[in-house]
Amino acid sequence: MRLGFCSTSPAVPEAAILALLDGLKGRYESNSKALYMSPVRKVLVTGSGGLIASALVRDLGDRFDFTGQDIGPPNYPTVPTTVGDLSDMDGVRQAFDGIDAVVHLGADSNQHAPWASVLPNNLIATRNVFEACRDAGVKRVVYASSNHAVGMHELDEPYSRIRVGNYEGLDPDNVPQIDHTVQIRPDGQYGISKAFGEATGAYYAENFGLEVACLRIGTVNRDNRPMEVRQLATWCSHRDVLQLIQRCLEVEPLQFDIFYGVSDNKWRFWDIDHARDVLRYAPQDNAEDYRDSL
Ligand SMILES: NC(=O)c1ccc[n+]([C@@H]2O[C@H](COP(=O)([O-])OP(=O)(O)OC[C@H]3O[C@@H](n4cnc5c(N)ncnc54)[C@H](O)[C@@H]3O)[C@@H](O)[C@H]2O)c1
Repeated sequence: MRLGFCSTSPAVPEAAILALLDGLKGRYESNSKALYMSPVRKVLVTGSGGLIASALVRDLGDRFDFTGQDIGPPNYPTVPTTVGDLSDMDGVRQAFDGIDAVVHLGADSNQHAPWASVLPNNLIATRNVFEACRDAGVKRVVYASSNHAVGMHELDEPYSRIRVGNYEGLDPDNVPQIDHTVQIRPDGQYGISKAFGEATGAYYAENFGLEVACLRIGTVNRDNRPMEVRQLATWCSHRDVLQLIQRCLEVEPLQFDIFYGVSDNKWRFWDIDHARDVLRYAPQDNAEDYRDSL
């Protein structure tokens, strides 16, 4: 089939047009809520040497033009990486120039991290990331928050029993879900830092028009399967967390929002309906499939 064009400009080779259309395929999806299109191409990943970042640049490298940033050495030679400490603005600011979106994963990811580490690596670093984005004109930030920003909810009934595998009298289909509207209730210094990151994101969204998606990630681990009873509720597989990050990068419109990063686990207690609704999140995994291997 030939494509007809009403134009006086020089002829555009048909092959080039077909290639362009092919490139657009899959980048435009519609649903009743929103038009999904992806203007995002150049994506800076902070903490690019880490677990989630490594999976991201490995598996979504054909979809985005990634650059990396980490305090440690780069682990993907094909991804141009700025080595530096995010708590030192002068040392990392340039990495944000010419970037469309940032996936901010760089942090001390240990939920028991001491204040001496949380302060520079999570609080100051995160403020610097948002400020560098504002300064450089970055459009969007996907911020790796954590379930620990609201971790105290988990100690309430019935979650306190589910997390230790006591399901007596409970129907997994009728467990009230902890959703994105619940009160902030951090369960430690790390959780406080993640709540700070969400608050910082809200500030930059409202005051400077930065688009911000916060992902309250559950449990993502190297083995890519639940390793203890609690993780039967909290696990998020690599492909599910990557899908969430991708959707957060691509969804339109976005101003500020919060989603939980958890797979479709039988005993999950964090809401994924909001992510299904807004992001069209379609989780592929369920921790229950691994129960026998615990
Ligand atoms: N893995 C999970 O289960 C989980 C759950 C909730 C939230 N998160 C959050 O997601 C993000 C990524 O998690 P992960 O498991 O891949 O962590 P990770 O520890 O594997 O990676 C974090 C990376 O950040 C880098 N980093 C730390 N401080 C830095 C600094 N000051 N400047 C630059 N880089 C710095 C580290 O060198 C590391 O490569 C973290 O922010 C973490 O808090 C992870």
